[in-house]
Amino acid sequence: MAKSAEKDVAFRVRLQPSGLAFLADPEADLLTAAGKAGIAVPSACRNGVCELCEANLSKGSALNTRNQKTITDTGRLMLCRTRAVSDLELEIEAVMAAGENKPRKFQAHVADLRSISHDVYRVELQLPRRRELDFHAGQYLSVVLPDAEPCYFSIASSPRAERLELHIQATPDWVSAQRVIDALKSGEQVTLELPNGRACLASAPEKPLLMVAAGTGFAQMKSVVDYLQELDHRHPVTLFWGVRRHEDMYLRSLAQQWHEEWVPFTFVPVVADDEDSDWSGHHDRLVRTVLASTENWRNVEVMASGSPTMVYTLLDALVEAGLPPRAFHSDVLEYAPRH
Ligand code: FES
Repeated sequence: MAKSAEKDVAFRVRLQPSGLAFLADPEADLLTAAGKAGIAVPSACRNGVCELCEANLSKGSALNTRNQKTITDTGRLMLCRTRAVSDLELEIEAVMAAGENKPRKFQAHVADLRSISHDVYRVELQLPRRRELDFHAGQYLSVVLPDAEPCYFSIASSPRAERLELHIQATPDWVSAQRVIDALKSGEQVTLELPNGRACLASAPEKPLLMVAAGTGFAQMKSVVDYLQELDHRHPVTLFWGVRRHEDMYLRSLAQQWHEEWVPFTFVPVVADDEDSDWSGHHDRLVRTVLASTENWRNVEVMASGSPTMVYTLLDALVEAGLPPRAFHSDVLEYAPRH
């Protein structure tokens, strides 16, 4: 029975087919340990009755806390009534890997809509049956209006929040986004399709996380920060937020508040010179700031949200500095792939 080398008193539990893994304290049940790592396992009774947290043991030994018997054979168990006594591998189809949950359509109504800067609206949407929706921190949705192409927005709230929060940048000359704002202001229900996106967290990262956002790319990072704060995440998290002008940093006080109140978190605002109207120059400054933040690029995860130009400029610079490409996550890689 091999104890995990990463932590003397914890065992590593790997879930298949998702590939997600977590460390389990031998004194805690596996459902609690998975929840602490931010892994969403279906559950209700937490007492071995509803069978929602059922899994199959495929490797390792575990303790059934109901009858105190050791389970060594492969077979079914309930995570809420099981503790690890070795590293484990479990089969559990109900746990989704990042980006594996299928998009579906939902009706929603607007619970709140307000202008929070010269061109950004903060919107809160309420679903009638919120519990039917599962998504991961960092995913996005589309607003589907009649006779229009879907409009895509990052979800800015945590997967556990009751309402879905969006940050929508809209001006009268930006027709599609303004149409969405007008539809939301009308008070009618709107159709959403979600969740979308693979650049998201299905569990808490075990390495330092660097998040790089340009403009309203901040929304995706807010979802991740809310989620990690709820988990009482302890690994370092750094947010670089790049904007062209000070007034574009529409929730700067919130990011500053995280910086002051949440110990692992560092906020690095990057504001381009007001005289600098060159968008690529702005990106260069953001990329240079990120590059200067560490030298240990082999041991971090990076999430990036912004225009394809910014994201690919950053990706190239970080990979050249030593970041493994698989440690770089951005929706841009999926919706604007390079050929
Ligand atoms: S939560 Fe009901 S059996 Fe585990």
